Amino acid sequence: MTHPVDLDAWKTLAAHYDDVKSTSLRDLFESDDARFEKFQLNAAGIFLDYSKNHVTDDTLANLLRLAENSDVKTRLQSMFDGELVNPTEGRPALHTALRNRSNTPVMVAGEDVMPGVNDVLARLRVFTDSVRSGDWKGYTGKPITDVVNIGIGGSDLGPLMAVEALAPFAHERLNMHFVSNVDGSHMVSTLKKVDPDTTLFIVASKTFTTQETLTNAHSARDWFLDSSATESDVSKHFVALSTNKEAVSEFGINVDNMFGFWDWVGGRYSLWSSIGMPLMLSIGMDRFEQFLQGAHDMDVHTRTAPLSENMPVILALLTVWYNNFWSAHSHLIAPYDQYLHRFPAYLQQLTMESNGKSVHVDGTPISCSTGPVVWGEPGTNGQHAYFQLVHQGTHIIPTDFIMALESLNPLGIHHELLMANCFAQSEALMMGKTKEELKVEMQKAGASDAEIERLSGHRSFAGNRPSNTLLVQQLTPQALGALIALYEHKVFVEAAIWDINPFDQWGVELGKQLAKSIHQEMELAATVKSHDSSTNGLINKALKLNNLLA
Ligand code: F6P
Repeated sequence: MTHPVDLDAWKTLAAHYDDVKSTSLRDLFESDDARFEKFQLNAAGIFLDYSKNHVTDDTLANLLRLAENSDVKTRLQSMFDGELVNPTEGRPALHTALRNRSNTPVMVAGEDVMPGVNDVLARLRVFTDSVRSGDWKGYTGKPITDVVNIGIGGSDLGPLMAVEALAPFAHERLNMHFVSNVDGSHMVSTLKKVDPDTTLFIVASKTFTTQETLTNAHSARDWFLDSSATESDVSKHFVALSTNKEAVSEFGINVDNMFGFWDWVGGRYSLWSSIGMPLMLSIGMDRFEQFLQGAHDMDVHTRTAPLSENMPVILALLTVWYNNFWSAHSHLIAPYDQYLHRFPAYLQQLTMESNGKSVHVDGTPISCSTGPVVWGEPGTNGQHAYFQLVHQGTHIIPTDFIMALESLNPLGIHHELLMANCFAQSEALMMGKTKEELKVEMQKAGASDAEIERLSGHRSFAGNRPSNTLLVQQLTPQALGALIALYEHKVFVEAAIWDINPFDQWGVELGKQLAKSIHQEMELAATVKSHDSSTNGLINKALKLNNLLA
């Protein structure tokens, strides 16, 4: 396999970077009135303005050639077709089948997976409808009022983010809670808010072996049984979402209360499966299907749009352009929408667990830098926290602004101000403030020449910072589905270009193994000597201060 850096298009881009690096975004806009019209796309209800990027027609042509040289189209098709795109785990990655609203067959090992997908969706509808309607009763005969999702990583971040994002559509009686951290404070503080006889616990774990989730689930079960409930009441209050039937049954959850999915669904891509149950309970199955539809619309766009009009492809190419040619290794997600406050955290797992890799698909050491650090917080809050560094710091941080044009909570001028701030930030990042502009501004405010001179370096700045703006009409289930699928495919296209496997996560395993063995050592209540001096020292300090040494 030719490594990305050996491709002709890669080399052309490296040379092209030298040609364009000193052309400012201001210059690009001044030399082309049609830039906004030229560098925009519409897909599945999402509008993308990518004109405020360091791209010219030539840049785009070179980037598109890189996508062609990297077989992006073929690789995308392989994923949609259920081929083994996750070779280190020997699996396809078929989250797209979970939202395949066209219901066309999707074959895995000669078998159509769609009937299974539809069966689970039908069971989920029956169950979630009965909890929502109040027909499902707790052990004292009362309807469920609180739902506690116990899961971590993909079994937490996706449902939590989506439940928060679609809060305006939430069921009135059902309060949703999420416990992920093995820190007992997370469970204890949640249990203080709920009653055993009206709470439904969802134990969400693809593998049903995750230490944090099983520990939390056991504690929740103990708490439940400490009330007047008995073992036979557990089935009314505990359900499992998993691929591991034996482990679910061993835990003590009746498999009739288990909603399954398949090993070809990656944890961070599992929101579309039964792992989405908290969202189904919150917004109802009809709206959940609209959510699936939005993602499916984006899937169809991704599969069928030419590379030059393909939104995830363009976003991925921009990330590659900055990450690999501009040395910009950080990417800011700035949703101007309070309901999307967990979206950056969700994207962190999606992008960093997927593309944080140091070997190519064939196992050879990586030849280029891979996934950037992804981070963010909703605007306008970020403006009063870290945006200073994005404007004037020494790093280039490409930014995605995300906003709905229509508020679901119209309140006076709030939404206009939110939009104004969003547009102002991308303009400020791009335009900066020249010394001349500053001079005029300060003169108008009555500053002396000496004062202007003294502050000129501090108060003027180059701007020239790139951003995308993504707009939806309203943050509906459909729009959210499309937005998530857009980023999923963007991550896949980046991985295709870097020639890495975005569907495994071996690096995470070492920490899990070590935590297990350290815990076993701690239980022996004796001074630990088997690690390096720092780790030994920390463990022994913890044992001593907690009076755990025998
Ligand atoms: O953190 C690693 C990880 O394996 C994630 O990929 C996954 O989403 C999470 O743990 C939880 O796994 P599970 O759903 O099997 O409990």
